[in-house]
Amino acid sequence: MRNDEWSDETWLVSGGRPEAPGEPLNAPIVPASNFELDGGVLYARTDTTPTWHALETVVGGLEQAECVSFASGMAAVSSVFALLPAGAHIAVPADCYQATEGIAAEGEAQGRWTVDRIPTADTDGWIAALPSADLVWVESPSNPLLEVAELAKIAGAARKPGALFAVDNTFATALLQRPLDLGADLSVQSATKFIGGHSDLLSGVVTTRSADLVARLRRSRTLHGGTPGALESYLAVRGARTMALRLERAQATALELAGRLADHDAVHTVRYPGLPTDPNHQRATQQMRGFGSIVSFELGSYQAAHDAVRRTRLIRHATSLGSVESTMEQRAALDGQEDVPPGLIRLSVGVEHVDDLWTDLRHALA
Ligand SMILES: Cc1ncc(COP(=O)(O)O)c(C=O)c1O
Repeated sequence: MRNDEWSDETWLVSGGRPEAPGEPLNAPIVPASNFELDGGVLYARTDTTPTWHALETVVGGLEQAECVSFASGMAAVSSVFALLPAGAHIAVPADCYQATEGIAAEGEAQGRWTVDRIPTADTDGWIAALPSADLVWVESPSNPLLEVAELAKIAGAARKPGALFAVDNTFATALLQRPLDLGADLSVQSATKFIGGHSDLLSGVVTTRSADLVARLRRSRTLHGGTPGALESYLAVRGARTMALRLERAQATALELAGRLADHDAVHTVRYPGLPTDPNHQRATQQMRGFGSIVSFELGSYQAAHDAVRRTRLIRHATSLGSVESTMEQRAALDGQEDVPPGLIRLSVGVEHVDDLWTDLRHALA
């Protein structure tokens, strides 16, 4: 159990470790699928193995909640959508992460649910959707536009009885934003990103304070088989140990780079909730403890962005985010991202020195 006296930073370093005399300090990688009967764990798909247990303890403890871990962020996202009854009505962001929009659109095409699409920052739009929605799915800050939803206001408005309010907290992480404290039923993170932090695993987590939802998510994991790997869970725990340090450094650098980008002649707009000039800065300040390390900025044309992402030497041209190494990509170049501004580049700031990153960006924008 989490010791209430400890800060989040200390919990991330210390939570989920074996404690009995003679045990290793790190929960070991247990690659077993099968276990001796009558020992607690029956089979790795139906129960929580010792390695998942460490990840679920450390991630859940951060939010004073239970955590259910999955094979990837999308396995975690799907498990929430799998909770819906047939014929449900859902509300998702109009500017949603593309694979989540893929789930919403596919279920809609198959007649499994009907969908409202609401711009992330449109609080009135979300509140208007609440009385009829069985699931309200919000992503904040959003990928890749970095829009911020007013989570407490959405959570506090009247919704359909039994409806679920879920937040994709991948960009902020539970360290910087607490959706459950703001009134959400479920908080989802791709642990592939900041929790893992080294671009070497896929993992996803859902946290909730509802025992009923924990049971339903575990059952969904057992039935659909989105079970996490032992090695990946071990690496995710190892990543969590340094998450606070990495994020502290990366977000300080992100703020500095966002400011410098905003002053650069080739850059039309910068979106970073930490910039005082950002349209969502005020609301982000109210609900976030930090603004994270993802920055989006727009160049004048598709071609300009296409060229810039290929001109860096240090920042890697790669799609994922939240890692120690900085990465950037042109989102409009991806399938299904036609609505994203053509010149938009999403930059995930890592822990390299700020001056080296700025030299690289200036070179790419020259
Ligand atoms: C906001 C958001 N949610 C969910 C996911 C899915 O995570 P994963 O790639 O671990 O399946 C991503 C991946 O980029 C993401 O950016």
